[in-house]
Amino acid sequence: MKILVTGGAGFIGSVTTKKLLDKGHEVVVYDSLIKGHRESVDSRAEFVQGCLSDKSLLDKTFKKFGIEAVIHFAGFIEAGESMKEPSKFFKNNVIYGLNLLDVMAKNNVKKIIFSSSAAVYASKDSPLEEEDIKKPANFYGETKLIFEKLLSWYDDIYQIKFVALRYFNAAGACGELVEKHNPETHLIPLVIFTALGKRESIKIFGTDYSTPDGTGIRDYVDVKDLAEAHILALENLRETSNAYNVGTGKGISVKEVVEAVKKISGKDFNVIEAEKREGDPTMLVANSEKIKKELGWEAKVNFEEGLRETFEYFKNS
Ligand code: UFG
Repeated sequence: MKILVTGGAGFIGSVTTKKLLDKGHEVVVYDSLIKGHRESVDSRAEFVQGCLSDKSLLDKTFKKFGIEAVIHFAGFIEAGESMKEPSKFFKNNVIYGLNLLDVMAKNNVKKIIFSSSAAVYASKDSPLEEEDIKKPANFYGETKLIFEKLLSWYDDIYQIKFVALRYFNAAGACGELVEKHNPETHLIPLVIFTALGKRESIKIFGTDYSTPDGTGIRDYVDVKDLAEAHILALENLRETSNAYNVGTGKGISVKEVVEAVKKISGKDFNVIEAEKREGDPTMLVANSEKIKKELGWEAKVNFEEGLRETFEYFKNS
């Protein structure tokens, strides 16, 4: 299949691009490089530098490469930042995303896999199922929920079939392809940088959550497993649009992440107990039975394994 991967120079997008190419698909990466890295794009992929705001470039790209399906990763992802600059998130994640759907409709492209998020749900103290209440704790999650609704309408109106993959916290590494945000706000790389002496301390955002150790709980899913979920979703997308959770089902607290990095690195480091970060839900853990049953996907890489791989990459870079 000829697949357009928006945001293919980002963390999950670049790993998915590599795995699609390994499976014999043809990939065109469309990325503005505002957040992505050109060197993360596999040399076998075509690359177009562009923003989704540029409808005419998008249209030309669809026509030039004869695009047959889309995997849409491009978007802003930091939940905390979305509470400070909501309109930036709305523009990028909703309005520019709508351009993509319009260009798909115009070019008769009928398949899209969308990077949705666990952030669409209300926090719950047990694993989340797809039908659970959608009540984002932050504006980022709201933009993902709105886009899922737009996808349903574009399915009704233009018969564009979609799969929304609601992933939980992406983690791990695939060789050189690791999480590299600038500035970095994500827990795992920040704890690793602290262990490596590249930062003075790590702050724990909130220690009085209603969790066993008082810190926030997330479900960390390895990026290689996430990439597989996209490929399975696309290869199996026929007449029915759908939404799936993609997670491991195992909740890990912030304190547990810190302890795991201490163990892997053999280093003790400065941990500061700080205020909660605005827009952070207490707990997000996936029930991924639906994707397991319908697509045969399940997480294969365990948390410590992925953490070790990430740690080794940063230690040697
Ligand atoms: N945290 C800290 N200190 C830090 C950074 C984070 O304590 O310096 C905590 C957060 O409060 C949270 C946990 O670590 O409890 C994970 O935070 P991240 O910033 O690593 O990730 P988020 O859960 O905020 O968000 C990520 C992605 C979103 C995605 C979400 C799905 O950025 O795009 O996972 O759960 F939607």
